[in-house]
Amino acid sequence: MWQVSGGHGRIDRAKALESMDAHVADGFTTWDLADHYGPAEDLVGAYRRRYSSEPGALRNLQFLTKWVPRPGPMTPPVVAEAVATSQRRMQTDALDLLQFHWWDYTDRRYLDALAHLAELRDAGAIRHLGLTNFDTERLAHILERDIAIVSNQVQYSLIDRRPEVRMAPWCREHGVHLLAYGAVCGGLLSDKYLGQPEPRGSALDTTSLQKYKRMVDAWGGWGLLK
Ligand SMILES: NC(=O)c1ccc[n+]([C@@H]2O[C@H](COP(=O)([O-])OP(=O)(O)OC[C@H]3O[C@@H](n4cnc5c(N)ncnc54)[C@H](OP(=O)(O)O)[C@@H]3O)[C@@H](O)[C@H]2O)c1
Repeated sequence: MWQVSGGHGRIDRAKALESMDAHVADGFTTWDLADHYGPAEDLVGAYRRRYSSEPGALRNLQFLTKWVPRPGPMTPPVVAEAVATSQRRMQTDALDLLQFHWWDYTDRRYLDALAHLAELRDAGAIRHLGLTNFDTERLAHILERDIAIVSNQVQYSLIDRRPEVRMAPWCREHGVHLLAYGAVCGGLLSDKYLGQPEPRGSALDTTSLQKYKRMVDAWGGWGLLK
């Protein structure tokens, strides 16, 4: 649901909810979102409210969110407030999966945050605890501290195969799942762009296309891709 966060055009709330219905009708069961993806958590809350009186309508659906805090003290009240905010916005007593992000490994307060998140998971406020964009070294360090982590969400595609080097083998060995994003580089890895001139400027009209074009450039450039 990054696509609702503001960099892909205006989001009409009613149409977004209709679109969620259409996805469910087509067999989609799982959404990925984050606290900072604009109204994503609120849309999930509205969707849940809409079906709250229909038993079973939401049974097979799951909504995976993220917590991306600004660096700061990670005390129990700070962590509990973040979880409560997502619960309130998403209209649920238990977040299906909370994926934690941290900006700076030299600031070791991420370990405080994860310890408190694990307590909240054990208390039932979170079903599963995951990470996003963590490297293998810190992932191993977190598990050594007996903090159970089910997943790490990382960029992985034909042009960004970094997770294959250490992350994927380590995760396989330790039972941590990888959730891949950027798998089609926001559409750049599709027929639409195959053999086409390098998209530039206004042709890159979403934050996704801008982000993944930078990935293509870092990888080897458009000449190699097309
Ligand atoms: N953890 C993180 O740091 C992080 C970062 C980025 C994304 N994510 C998550 O991953 C989710 C998926 O987004 P993503 O960034 O990973 O993008 P992606 O899956 O690489 O690309 C999805 C986009 O590709 C385009 N697309 C798909 N099939 C296509 C086709 N056949 N032809 C042309 N275009 C096609 C569509 O763009 P249009 O809709 O514009 O047509 C679609 O929205 C996000 O919503 C977010 O939840 C997480």
